[in-house]
Amino acid sequence: MSGAEHGRWTLRGAHTEYTVTLPAHGRWLELHAWGPHGVGEGPSPVAYDGPVPFLTAGDAAPVEYATDADRPFTGADLVVETESGNRRVGFGFVEAAHDPDGGALAVTFADPVTGLRAVLRYAVPAGTDVVRRWVELTNTGTGPLRLVRAGSAGFCVPTPHGALLSHQWGQWAQEFQLDHVDLGHGAFTIGSSQGVPGHLHVPWLAVRDRAEPDGSTWGVSVAWTGSWEITAERDTGGLTRVRAGRRLADGPLELPAGAELTLPEVAGAYSTDGLDGLARVWHRYQRLLAGERLTPRPVLYNSWEATYFDVDADSQLALARIAADLGVETFVVDDGWFLGRVDDTTGLGDWTPDPAGFPDGFDAFIAEVRGLGLRFGLWVEPECVSPRSRLYAEHPDWVYAVEGRPLTPIRNQYLLDLGRPEVAEFVHGTIDGLLRRYDIGYLKWDFNRPRTEPGRAGGEKPVDLDGAHVANLHRIYERLRRDHPEVLIESCAGGGGRTDLAMAARADIFWPSDNTAPLDRLAIQHGFLHANAPHLLSSWVTDAPGIFDPRPRSLAFRFVLAMAGVLGIGADIRHWTPEQRAEAAGWIARYKEIREVVTHGEVHLVGGPDQARCAVQYTSPDRRTVVVLAWHTGRSDGPGLLPSRPVRLPLRGLDADGTYRHGDRRYSGAHLTAVGLPVGWTPTHDADLVVLHRA
Ligand code: GLA
Repeated sequence: MSGAEHGRWTLRGAHTEYTVTLPAHGRWLELHAWGPHGVGEGPSPVAYDGPVPFLTAGDAAPVEYATDADRPFTGADLVVETESGNRRVGFGFVEAAHDPDGGALAVTFADPVTGLRAVLRYAVPAGTDVVRRWVELTNTGTGPLRLVRAGSAGFCVPTPHGALLSHQWGQWAQEFQLDHVDLGHGAFTIGSSQGVPGHLHVPWLAVRDRAEPDGSTWGVSVAWTGSWEITAERDTGGLTRVRAGRRLADGPLELPAGAELTLPEVAGAYSTDGLDGLARVWHRYQRLLAGERLTPRPVLYNSWEATYFDVDADSQLALARIAADLGVETFVVDDGWFLGRVDDTTGLGDWTPDPAGFPDGFDAFIAEVRGLGLRFGLWVEPECVSPRSRLYAEHPDWVYAVEGRPLTPIRNQYLLDLGRPEVAEFVHGTIDGLLRRYDIGYLKWDFNRPRTEPGRAGGEKPVDLDGAHVANLHRIYERLRRDHPEVLIESCAGGGGRTDLAMAARADIFWPSDNTAPLDRLAIQHGFLHANAPHLLSSWVTDAPGIFDPRPRSLAFRFVLAMAGVLGIGADIRHWTPEQRAEAAGWIARYKEIREVVTHGEVHLVGGPDQARCAVQYTSPDRRTVVVLAWHTGRSDGPGLLPSRPVRLPLRGLDADGTYRHGDRRYSGAHLTAVGLPVGWTPTHDADLVVLHRA
């Protein structure tokens, strides 16, 4: 500990360390170093103790969690107002509790003027390179406080040559678009004000120094299923601060005297191996979050694109019989199974199977599906209600509303105020009731509209609607998982609108996008896998050309693409030819052979959807099996002719001296790494699955 410090604490991950210090003045914590083991031995790359003309010391310091008193000009994490409208709440150190073996640190600060206490919590889960951070606030004073800004953490990243930021933008049917921003000076902000992570941006950011794009890479991700924000701001001295946490889209939060508030967790990740390495750090962490539920997912069939709202027992059973023949293991009936749901204008809220569609009863229908050897799955959207529904007629006050203002329908539906205990009880009771009543093994939980109205009918104001909705959503998921551990839950929000680390801890699978068109999907999955592990990636083979990108690709391409995560089929297989069905059955059988490696293997993203080389490599934990899924991204009219040579896919993480076998072919690890695995594309051969075995 240096003379200028009161404390220094290090958290160690599998390959990473994160060291913070408490300066002698005790007003805040500072980052000392964040990087590979040993990075803290030496002068801090982020410290600054020079002059700060026209600024304050806190504006330049690598403060971990800054109030506007600490950092009035360069962006605070926490801004608190007193009843009289005064700001500049500032802290003094109270105590620290450090458990180096358990990877935990808690540092408590308090404001002597207002009585606000803040516990800054850190946890590094064993075996990961992720630091989880969150803040617990308690108003121990006598007056109410108002949180104008309530970030969860700030991360400091040294970017002396400029910051290279990577983020993912999108919209419905075009989620997870990986892009990069060269940030010289100033700020870059992404977020959501929709009460859901949303399609527009993924709560994920990566930061690298412009001069070292393949080296040290820092990531930040928000574990919050509501409105969120991440800002990266590079200062004149080359330090990039990443502030992350909730976005208070509805205005300040009230913290009455005696109240406590835990702000959501944000996670920081570090890798020495660029964006690809960072993806592996996130994968490892999400696998840990999945815990004992991390098992290869069943191959599923989903009826949405085959029958849309036109659902009845006959059409579904026709699909299910073919699906079972192909080797599918779970049959999911999507939207359209419940009372009055003939299109998207009615029915939401009345979660009773439609007797018109299932004249022999839903039980009998499910029993037939189960009799085919299939697990049965069901689509639900329990937080939403159609204006034309019994639920809305009975409980018009259950939807978010601003008194005296018209409601805003989106996709012809309103949103239930899940923060209300009676609504949460209804939603939980609905799903729990379905799971108890019927033989269901899989749920697709959808959410097809953001929250527009920042108000509660007749409720006292202001209420933390976002916080209450998210807290109850998480509780319901946790309860359902506890009471129905065998049921897998897929999180969907009009595609990939609800994917964040908090959902990765509660849902088993994400539906990343409604767009399953081959080349569009390739780009979506490429982005998705940078932030999410393959066990979360639900992917269907659909008909071609489908409703999106019409660029033609083979059935093989579509299968190999869907095999990159959790394989599903969403096509109208009633119309598939015997040849197509035979080919599909072959791919499904091969998927079953590789899915253990896809679920647990180390992922390397080779090239990308906008490059000639595009593949995903999965290496089994014992490093003996290497699965490569490769796709031809270019035009289909030229390849295979002179003078083209095969595309080479450089593989990673192999033993240079090892021999890897694929059929009759043998390669050295050195060859596969330095030269690459050859794949030759022709107009009809546009994707490949190669399994290499270590000899
Ligand atoms: C959303 C989902 C789709 C499908 C429909 C059903 O759009 O993303 O996959 O379930 O709802 O209405």
